[in-house]
Amino acid sequence: MENQTTDTSQDLGQLQLDLIKKRKSPVAFSDKEVTKDQLEQLFEAARWAASCFNEQPWRFVVATRDQGDHYKKVLNGIHPHNQTWAQNAPVLMLTFAKKTFDKNGKPNMHSWHDLGLAVGNMSAQATAMGLYVHQMAGIVRENILNDFDIPDDYDVVSGIAIGYKLDIEDVPEDLIARETKERTRKPLNEIVFDNEWSESSF
Ligand SMILES: Cc1cc2nc3c(=O)[nH]c(=O)nc-3n(C[C@H](O)[C@H](O)[C@H](O)COP(=O)(O)O)c2cc1C
Repeated sequence: MENQTTDTSQDLGQLQLDLIKKRKSPVAFSDKEVTKDQLEQLFEAARWAASCFNEQPWRFVVATRDQGDHYKKVLNGIHPHNQTWAQNAPVLMLTFAKKTFDKNGKPNMHSWHDLGLAVGNMSAQATAMGLYVHQMAGIVRENILNDFDIPDDYDVVSGIAIGYKLDIEDVPEDLIARETKERTRKPLNEIVFDNEWSESSF
């Protein structure tokens, strides 16, 4: 019985790792709709992230394509370089992080970190649901501050495009190189150290 539990945990661990590796940031989005229920699941995953003092400093403005002018307003906050592909995504978001702690008004140095954890959860959840999340630092803060009534106590952090990715045979010519580019990562021994900086047993 105990062995069975161990086996199941190992299987789940491998499954989780496979999902983490499957996540990617596509530029070729399909126009297939993402439903309100699916969005709710993504935000539910984000909401359960850890955060410093459990302050949950993350905020999101979300727009779906059927929201017309609102979608266009969010798109206007995305840098033109990213708009070229992000405008095909059925869901766009802008993200914000609260600058100070609710509990004492002091600066929250961890708010961007915590927002990242929430978006990480959202990305993992999206992958499990067959969806893809592409985050963007390339935004136009001035447009976002002009177009939306953002309280002073919030940083404008990033944009996010969400949707299904196109099957490879449907990816347009101008996006095919980016979409098929090999995804690489630093090896563990460059990022995990033991008692000496740069010395690793991995
Ligand atoms: C905070 C952040 C900002 C990013 N900004 C952009 C961006 O402005 N434009 C873009 O095309 N990709 C952007 N990306 C996506 C990264 O380029 C991508 O995550 C990275 O190349 C690794 O590829 P992968 O997500 O497919 O594994 C951003 C990712 C993160 C986490």
